[in-house]
Amino acid sequence: MGSRLGFISAEIEEMKSKGLFKVPPILGGPQGARAIVNGKEVINLSSNSYLQLTTNKKMKKAAIAAIRKYGVGTGAVRQIIGTMDIHEELEKKVAQFKGAEAVLMFSSGVAANSGTIPTLVGEGDVIVSDELNHGSIIDGCRLTKAERKIYPHLNMEELEKILKESKHRRKLIITDGVFSMDGDIAPMDKIVELAEKYDAITYVDDAHGEGVLGKNGRGIVDHFNLHGRVDVEMGTFSKAFGCMGGYIAGTNDLRSYLIQRARSFLFSTSHPPATVAAISAAVDVALEQPKLFDKLWNNTKYFRRKLQKLGFNTGNSQTPIIPVMTGQSAVAQQLSSKLFEKGVYVNPIVYPMVAMDKARVRNIITAGHKRKDLDAALAAFEEVGKELKLI
Ligand SMILES: Cc1ncc(COP(=O)(O)O)c(C=O)c1O
Repeated sequence: MGSRLGFISAEIEEMKSKGLFKVPPILGGPQGARAIVNGKEVINLSSNSYLQLTTNKKMKKAAIAAIRKYGVGTGAVRQIIGTMDIHEELEKKVAQFKGAEAVLMFSSGVAANSGTIPTLVGEGDVIVSDELNHGSIIDGCRLTKAERKIYPHLNMEELEKILKESKHRRKLIITDGVFSMDGDIAPMDKIVELAEKYDAITYVDDAHGEGVLGKNGRGIVDHFNLHGRVDVEMGTFSKAFGCMGGYIAGTNDLRSYLIQRARSFLFSTSHPPATVAAISAAVDVALEQPKLFDKLWNNTKYFRRKLQKLGFNTGNSQTPIIPVMTGQSAVAQQLSSKLFEKGVYVNPIVYPMVAMDKARVRNIITAGHKRKDLDAALAAFEEVGKELKLI
């Protein structure tokens, strides 16, 4: 059986021998600041649930009410008969929240990137992309016939050089807003200035800026006060908003165009009512509870400052994504597993997610973390860090 798939077994063995074979950890309950991971209760420093809304009461209530009214599924893609009134209402609400004309939902952030990028550029065009952009941006770019030029991480001189030399029909500058492995922030103000100077389209993936940056978590465009000057804002409801689903915010025309052209929108069934209702409630929570953002940022600053004081290298983190750099993959893996033994779950990030010599563990701080849990995690970091000679 499966004789022609023998290469898979060989590749799996090779991954295992290099320590690159990963088994997803299993949550035995809700996703929270404390969670049951592989049967053990731990302090969870690995989720993207920045506002800790995955278990929010208002959102759960809204989801249950939507199931009662609309059922559990939509039965079709949006263009056939999968668009409910609640999908359209949610898109209008998110557009207002973001300060954009219009929003279009996709089944995920990955689908938003893979569906949208190929509608904007093609043969004769150029995509100018930060070297550390997320994999789903890279995949979206691969789906086009546009030329690709990569600029060194955050390097505005190199970006300008590429834009200046380009003779292409259209230029698209694409960047993560907050970089998912390093937690640093793209200089959107400078990127927009260059885009305006060289007549380029701007596209920002705000997956980790949403619910984190800007007033009430409106994201990176709000953070830099660039409303109306960024052409395409991609976001996701899967991180700070605690649910799932991607979206694109922009003009009414952009939305209409994507409805006609974006393949991942056209060919994928719409969100179930429960998810739509929960996301809608999440927007209300973000507007009604500004204290959540204070908690998120207080926790973030506290944890980063303490890690640095202990002597850890936290890279260029400016957000709740706080790496502890280890250099070698094996050290990141050891650090992660020793922390787990002490009741702290933090992901090792190794090649190919980052360059071979840039391994790290990645802490993600949320509004839901209690100070005593952060202190317990810091004590574990101190002990293991000394043992591994990282500090
Ligand atoms: C920067 C970035 N963009 C896009 C995505 C994809 O979002 P989603 O999980 O909604 O598909 C992620 C998720 O990991 C991400 O980190």
